[in-house]
Amino acid sequence: MKRIGVLTSGGDSPGMNAAIRAVVRKAIHSDIEVYGIYYGFAGLIEGNIEKLEIGSVGDIIHRGGTMLYTARTEEFKTEEGRQKGIDQLNKFGIEGLVVIGGDGSFHGARKLTESGYPCIGVPGTIDNDIPGTDFTIGFDTALNTVIDAIDKIRDTATSHERTYVIEVMGRDAGDLALWSGLADGAETIVIPEAPYNMDEIAARLKKGHERGKKHSIIVVAEGCESGVSFGKKIEEATQFETRVSVLGYIQRGGRPTASDRVLASRLGARAVDLLLAGKQGRMVGIQQNRLVDHDIAEALQLEHTIDMDMYKLSKELSI
Ligand code: F6P
Repeated sequence: MKRIGVLTSGGDSPGMNAAIRAVVRKAIHSDIEVYGIYYGFAGLIEGNIEKLEIGSVGDIIHRGGTMLYTARTEEFKTEEGRQKGIDQLNKFGIEGLVVIGGDGSFHGARKLTESGYPCIGVPGTIDNDIPGTDFTIGFDTALNTVIDAIDKIRDTATSHERTYVIEVMGRDAGDLALWSGLADGAETIVIPEAPYNMDEIAARLKKGHERGKKHSIIVVAEGCESGVSFGKKIEEATQFETRVSVLGYIQRGGRPTASDRVLASRLGARAVDLLLAGKQGRMVGIQQNRLVDHDIAEALQLEHTIDMDMYKLSKELSI
Protein backbone atom coordinates (compact mmCIF):
# COMPACT_ATOMS: atom_id res chain seq x y z
CA MET A 1 0.00 0.00 0.00
CA LYS A 2 1.48 3.31 -1.08
CA ARG A 3 -1.35 5.80 -0.62
CA ILE A 4 -4.16 5.98 1.93
CA GLY A 5 -7.02 8.39 2.65
CA VAL A 6 -8.56 9.74 5.81
CA LEU A 7 -11.94 11.34 6.47
CA THR A 8 -14.14 12.39 9.37
CA SER A 9 -17.85 11.81 9.14
CA GLY A 10 -21.04 12.36 11.18
CA GLY A 11 -21.06 14.59 14.26
CA ASP A 12 -17.71 16.18 15.04
CA SER A 13 -16.06 15.31 18.35
CA PRO A 14 -13.12 16.84 20.22
CA GLY A 15 -9.99 14.84 19.46
CA MET A 16 -10.82 14.14 15.81
CA ASN A 17 -8.03 16.54 14.82
CA ALA A 18 -5.55 14.63 16.98
CA ALA A 19 -6.67 11.42 15.25
CA ILE A 20 -6.23 12.96 11.77
CA ARG A 21 -2.77 14.16 12.79
CA ALA A 22 -1.84 10.68 13.99
CA VAL A 23 -3.03 9.04 10.76
CA VAL A 24 -1.13 11.51 8.60
CA ARG A 25 2.12 11.47 10.53
CA LYS A 26 2.14 7.71 11.13
CA ALA A 27 1.56 7.14 7.41
CA ILE A 28 4.32 9.54 6.37
CA HIS A 29 6.60 7.97 8.98
CA SER A 30 5.85 4.63 7.28
CA ASP A 31 6.71 6.06 3.85
CA ILE A 32 3.20 6.20 2.46
CA GLU A 33 1.22 9.13 1.12
CA VAL A 34 -1.96 10.40 2.76
CA TYR A 35 -4.89 12.14 1.17
CA GLY A 36 -7.45 14.07 3.17
CA ILE A 37 -11.08 13.74 2.10
CA TYR A 38 -13.08 16.83 3.05
CA TYR A 39 -16.71 16.80 4.29
CA GLY A 40 -16.86 13.08 4.99
CA PHE A 41 -18.57 10.70 2.60
CA ALA A 42 -20.33 13.63 0.92
CA GLY A 43 -16.93 15.07 -0.05
CA LEU A 44 -15.73 11.64 -1.11
CA ILE A 45 -18.58 11.36 -3.62
CA GLU A 46 -17.66 14.78 -5.03
CA GLY A 47 -13.91 14.11 -5.07
CA ASN A 48 -13.11 16.83 -2.54
CA ILE A 49 -9.71 15.29 -1.91
CA GLU A 50 -6.24 16.75 -1.33
CA LYS A 51 -2.80 15.46 -0.46
CA LEU A 52 -1.76 16.11 3.14
CA GLU A 53 1.80 16.72 4.28
CA ILE A 54 3.40 16.72 7.72
CA GLY A 55 2.74 20.46 8.01
CA SER A 56 -0.93 20.10 6.98
CA VAL A 57 -1.71 18.72 10.42
CA GLY A 58 0.51 21.10 12.42
CA ASP A 59 -1.06 23.10 15.22
CA ILE A 60 -4.31 21.11 15.34
CA ILE A 61 -3.77 18.60 18.14
CA HIS A 62 -5.32 20.95 20.70
CA ARG A 63 -8.26 22.12 18.61
CA GLY A 64 -11.84 20.84 18.73
CA GLY A 65 -13.86 20.19 15.57
CA THR A 66 -12.26 18.61 12.53
CA MET A 67 -9.92 20.25 10.02
CA LEU A 68 -11.32 17.91 7.37
CA TYR A 69 -14.86 19.15 8.09
CA THR A 70 -17.70 16.70 8.31
CA ALA A 71 -21.18 16.01 6.99
CA ARG A 72 -24.09 13.62 7.23
CA THR A 73 -25.16 12.31 3.83
CA GLU A 74 -28.01 10.12 2.62
CA GLU A 75 -26.46 9.52 -0.82
CA PHE A 76 -23.67 7.36 0.56
CA LYS A 77 -26.29 4.97 1.98
CA THR A 78 -27.14 3.99 -1.60
CA GLU A 79 -25.06 1.62 -3.71
CA GLU A 80 -24.76 4.23 -6.45
CA GLY A 81 -23.44 6.80 -3.98
CA ARG A 82 -20.86 4.39 -2.64
CA GLN A 83 -19.77 3.46 -6.16
CA LYS A 84 -19.17 7.14 -6.92
CA GLY A 85 -17.01 7.26 -3.78
CA ILE A 86 -15.02 4.20 -4.83
CA ASP A 87 -14.52 5.67 -8.29
CA GLN A 88 -13.05 8.81 -6.71
CA LEU A 89 -10.74 6.76 -4.50
CA ASN A 90 -9.55 4.79 -7.52
CA LYS A 91 -9.08 7.99 -9.53
CA PHE A 92 -6.76 9.36 -6.83
CA GLY A 93 -4.98 6.00 -6.46
CA ILE A 94 -5.98 5.74 -2.80
CA GLU A 95 -5.72 2.11 -1.75
CA GLY A 96 -7.13 2.16 1.78
CA LEU A 97 -9.26 4.47 3.90
CA VAL A 98 -9.34 5.47 7.59
CA VAL A 99 -12.85 6.54 8.61
CA ILE A 100 -13.07 8.54 11.83
CA GLY A 101 -16.61 8.84 13.19
CA GLY A 102 -19.52 7.22 14.96
CA ASP A 103 -22.04 4.52 14.25
CA GLY A 104 -23.26 5.88 10.88
CA SER A 105 -19.70 6.36 9.65
CA PHE A 106 -18.84 2.80 10.65
CA HIS A 107 -21.78 1.54 8.59
CA GLY A 108 -20.33 3.42 5.61
CA ALA A 109 -16.89 1.90 6.24
CA ARG A 110 -18.40 -1.58 6.53
CA LYS A 111 -20.30 -1.18 3.26
CA LEU A 112 -17.19 0.07 1.44
CA THR A 113 -15.19 -2.90 2.72
CA GLU A 114 -17.95 -5.28 1.60
CA SER A 115 -17.62 -3.74 -1.86
CA GLY A 116 -13.95 -4.73 -1.78
CA TYR A 117 -12.48 -1.42 -0.65
CA PRO A 118 -10.28 -1.69 2.51
CA CYS A 119 -11.39 0.54 5.40
CA ILE A 120 -10.52 0.85 9.06
CA GLY A 121 -12.88 2.60 11.49
CA VAL A 122 -11.68 4.88 14.29
CA PRO A 123 -14.42 5.60 16.87
CA GLY A 124 -14.97 9.34 17.21
CA THR A 125 -18.17 10.53 18.87
CA ILE A 126 -19.12 12.23 22.12
CA ASP A 127 -21.84 9.60 22.62
CA ASN A 128 -19.51 6.73 23.62
CA ASP A 129 -21.97 4.36 21.97
CA ILE A 130 -19.71 2.21 19.78
CA PRO A 131 -19.48 -1.45 20.87
CA GLY A 132 -15.94 -2.89 20.91
CA THR A 133 -14.30 0.04 22.67
CA ASP A 134 -14.56 1.25 26.25
CA PHE A 135 -14.20 4.86 25.12
CA THR A 136 -14.71 6.84 21.94
CA ILE A 137 -12.69 9.91 20.98
CA GLY A 138 -14.47 13.01 22.32
CA PHE A 139 -16.41 11.41 25.14
CA ASP A 140 -14.00 12.51 27.87
CA THR A 141 -13.96 16.11 26.64
CA ALA A 142 -17.75 16.27 26.35
CA LEU A 143 -18.04 14.77 29.81
CA ASN A 144 -15.80 17.45 31.26
CA THR A 145 -17.78 20.15 29.42
CA VAL A 146 -21.00 18.79 30.92
CA ILE A 147 -19.50 18.67 34.40
CA ASP A 148 -18.28 22.23 34.08
CA ALA A 149 -21.77 23.35 33.04
CA ILE A 150 -23.49 21.44 35.84
CA ASP A 151 -21.09 22.90 38.42
CA LYS A 152 -22.13 26.36 37.26
CA ILE A 153 -25.83 25.52 37.23
CA ARG A 154 -25.47 24.11 40.73
CA ASP A 155 -24.41 27.55 42.00
CA THR A 156 -27.71 28.97 40.77
CA ALA A 157 -29.68 25.95 41.96
CA THR A 158 -28.22 26.49 45.44
CA SER A 159 -28.71 30.24 45.47
CA HIS A 160 -32.35 30.03 44.38
CA GLU A 161 -33.18 26.73 46.07
CA ARG A 162 -34.53 25.26 42.86
CA THR A 163 -34.61 21.92 41.13
CA TYR A 164 -32.70 21.82 37.84
CA VAL A 165 -33.25 19.33 35.06
CA ILE A 166 -30.27 19.20 32.72
CA GLU A 167 -30.63 17.54 29.33
CA VAL A 168 -27.42 16.13 27.91
CA MET A 169 -26.61 14.62 24.51
CA GLY A 170 -25.76 11.00 23.80
CA ARG A 171 -28.17 10.01 21.03
CA ASP A 172 -29.66 6.67 22.20
CA ALA A 173 -26.97 6.08 24.83
CA GLY A 174 -26.94 7.19 28.46
CA ASP A 175 -23.15 7.30 28.97
CA LEU A 176 -22.77 11.08 29.05
CA ALA A 177 -25.71 11.38 31.47
CA LEU A 178 -24.54 8.58 33.71
CA TRP A 179 -20.90 9.62 33.95
CA SER A 180 -21.67 13.32 34.39
CA GLY A 181 -24.43 12.59 36.88
CA LEU A 182 -22.14 10.40 38.95
CA ALA A 183 -19.27 12.88 38.72
CA ASP A 184 -21.56 15.72 39.76
CA GLY A 185 -23.51 13.97 42.50
CA ALA A 186 -26.82 14.42 40.70
CA GLU A 187 -29.84 13.45 42.76
CA THR A 188 -31.34 11.58 39.81
CA ILE A 189 -29.97 10.29 36.50
CA VAL A 190 -32.40 9.38 33.74
CA ILE A 191 -31.00 7.17 30.98
CA PRO A 192 -32.56 5.14 28.15
CA GLU A 193 -30.98 1.94 29.45
CA ALA A 194 -32.97 1.97 32.72
CA PRO A 195 -36.70 2.54 33.09
CA TYR A 196 -37.60 5.24 35.59
CA ASN A 197 -40.45 5.48 38.05
CA MET A 198 -41.66 9.03 38.57
CA ASP A 199 -43.26 8.24 41.94
CA GLU A 200 -39.94 6.89 43.20
CA ILE A 201 -38.00 9.89 41.89
CA ALA A 202 -40.48 12.35 43.44
CA ALA A 203 -40.37 10.47 46.76
CA ARG A 204 -36.55 10.62 46.79
CA LEU A 205 -36.53 14.34 46.04
CA LYS A 206 -39.13 15.04 48.73
CA LYS A 207 -37.23 12.95 51.26
CA GLY A 208 -34.11 14.98 50.53
CA HIS A 209 -36.11 18.16 50.93
CA GLU A 210 -37.39 17.06 54.32
CA ARG A 211 -33.79 16.42 55.38
CA GLY A 212 -33.03 20.05 54.56
CA LYS A 213 -31.79 19.69 50.99
CA LYS A 214 -32.94 22.83 49.22
CA HIS A 215 -31.93 22.13 45.63
CA SER A 216 -31.58 19.17 43.32
CA ILE A 217 -29.84 18.33 40.08
CA ILE A 218 -31.41 15.86 37.69
CA VAL A 219 -29.52 14.77 34.57
CA VAL A 220 -31.63 13.48 31.69
CA ALA A 221 -30.18 11.77 28.61
CA GLU A 222 -31.70 13.13 25.39
CA GLY A 223 -32.27 9.55 24.22
CA CYS A 224 -34.68 8.98 27.08
CA GLU A 225 -36.85 12.05 27.10
CA SER A 226 -36.59 15.78 26.51
CA GLY A 227 -35.52 17.81 29.52
CA VAL A 228 -38.52 20.10 29.03
CA SER A 229 -41.08 17.32 29.26
CA PHE A 230 -39.25 15.69 32.16
CA GLY A 231 -39.03 19.02 33.99
CA LYS A 232 -42.81 19.47 33.72
CA LYS A 233 -43.38 16.03 35.17
CA ILE A 234 -41.00 16.72 38.06
CA GLU A 235 -42.67 20.01 38.91
CA GLU A 236 -46.10 18.39 38.82
CA ALA A 237 -44.99 15.48 40.98
CA THR A 238 -43.04 17.49 43.58
CA GLN A 239 -44.41 21.03 43.40
CA PHE A 240 -40.77 22.21 43.64
CA GLU A 241 -39.78 25.18 41.52
CA THR A 242 -38.06 23.53 38.54
CA ARG A 243 -35.96 24.91 35.72
CA VAL A 244 -34.65 23.13 32.64
CA SER A 245 -31.32 23.58 30.92
CA VAL A 246 -30.62 21.90 27.57
CA LEU A 247 -26.84 21.90 27.19
CA GLY A 248 -26.91 21.32 23.42
CA TYR A 249 -23.97 21.82 21.12
CA ILE A 250 -21.51 23.22 23.64
CA GLN A 251 -20.99 19.52 24.41
CA ARG A 252 -19.57 18.85 20.95
CA GLY A 253 -16.87 21.50 20.78
CA GLY A 254 -13.89 22.75 22.71
CA ARG A 255 -10.27 21.82 23.35
CA PRO A 256 -9.88 18.07 23.67
CA THR A 257 -8.75 16.80 27.06
CA ALA A 258 -5.39 15.08 27.46
CA SER A 259 -7.18 11.71 27.56
CA ASP A 260 -8.89 12.33 24.23
CA ARG A 261 -5.70 13.56 22.57
CA VAL A 262 -3.77 10.51 23.73
CA LEU A 263 -6.56 8.11 22.79
CA ALA A 264 -6.93 9.73 19.36
CA SER A 265 -3.18 9.57 18.74
CA ARG A 266 -3.01 5.89 19.68
CA LEU A 267 -6.10 4.86 17.70
CA GLY A 268 -5.23 6.89 14.60
CA ALA A 269 -1.73 5.39 14.43
CA ARG A 270 -3.06 1.87 15.02
CA ALA A 271 -5.51 2.27 12.13
CA VAL A 272 -2.59 2.98 9.78
CA ASP A 273 -0.69 -0.04 11.13
CA LEU A 274 -3.68 -2.25 10.36
CA LEU A 275 -4.02 -1.00 6.79
CA LEU A 276 -0.31 -1.55 6.25
CA ALA A 277 -0.62 -5.06 7.65
CA GLY A 278 -3.21 -5.76 4.94
CA LYS A 279 -6.17 -5.74 7.33
CA GLN A 280 -9.55 -4.40 6.29
CA GLY A 281 -13.06 -4.08 7.67
CA ARG A 282 -11.70 -3.61 11.19
CA MET A 283 -12.42 -1.03 13.85
CA VAL A 284 -9.85 0.02 16.41
CA GLY A 285 -10.69 0.59 20.05
CA ILE A 286 -9.43 0.57 23.57
CA GLN A 287 -10.49 -2.02 26.12
CA GLN A 288 -9.02 -2.21 29.61
CA ASN A 289 -6.44 0.34 28.44
CA ARG A 290 -5.14 -1.89 25.68
CA LEU A 291 -5.51 -1.18 21.99
CA VAL A 292 -7.74 -3.72 20.26
CA ASP A 293 -9.30 -4.22 16.86
CA HIS A 294 -12.48 -6.01 15.89
CA ASP A 295 -14.35 -6.96 12.77
CA ILE A 296 -16.39 -3.85 12.08
CA ALA A 297 -19.50 -5.75 10.91
CA GLU A 298 -19.49 -7.92 14.04
CA ALA A 299 -18.98 -4.90 16.29
CA LEU A 300 -21.91 -3.11 14.67
CA GLN A 301 -24.16 -6.05 15.43
CA LEU A 302 -23.43 -5.86 19.14
CA GLU A 303 -25.61 -3.79 21.36
CA HIS A 304 -24.02 -0.91 23.21
CA THR A 305 -24.28 -1.52 26.93
CA ILE A 306 -23.88 0.67 29.94
CA ASP A 307 -22.26 -0.17 33.28
CA MET A 308 -25.32 -0.87 35.40
CA ASP A 309 -23.19 -1.15 38.56
CA MET A 310 -22.25 2.46 38.03
CA TYR A 311 -25.91 3.38 37.67
CA LYS A 312 -26.72 1.55 40.91
CA LEU A 313 -23.82 3.28 42.63
CA SER A 314 -25.05 6.70 41.51
CA LYS A 315 -28.35 5.99 43.25
CA GLU A 316 -26.66 4.77 46.42
CA LEU A 317 -24.41 7.82 46.65
CA SER A 318 -27.06 10.43 45.91
CA ILE A 319 -29.33 9.64 48.85
O1 F6P B 1 -23.67 11.88 17.73
C1 F6P B 1 -23.34 13.09 18.31
C2 F6P B 1 -24.56 13.92 18.54
O2 F6P B 1 -24.16 15.16 19.08
C3 F6P B 1 -25.65 13.29 19.39
O3 F6P B 1 -25.32 13.36 20.77
C4 F6P B 1 -26.85 14.10 18.98
O4 F6P B 1 -28.04 13.36 19.21
C5 F6P B 1 -26.62 14.30 17.52
O5 F6P B 1 -25.21 14.19 17.32
C6 F6P B 1 -27.04 15.66 16.98
O6 F6P B 1 -26.85 15.61 15.58
P1 F6P B 1 -26.79 16.88 14.60
O7 F6P B 1 -25.42 17.44 14.68
O8 F6P B 1 -27.07 16.30 13.27
O9 F6P B 1 -27.83 17.83 15.09
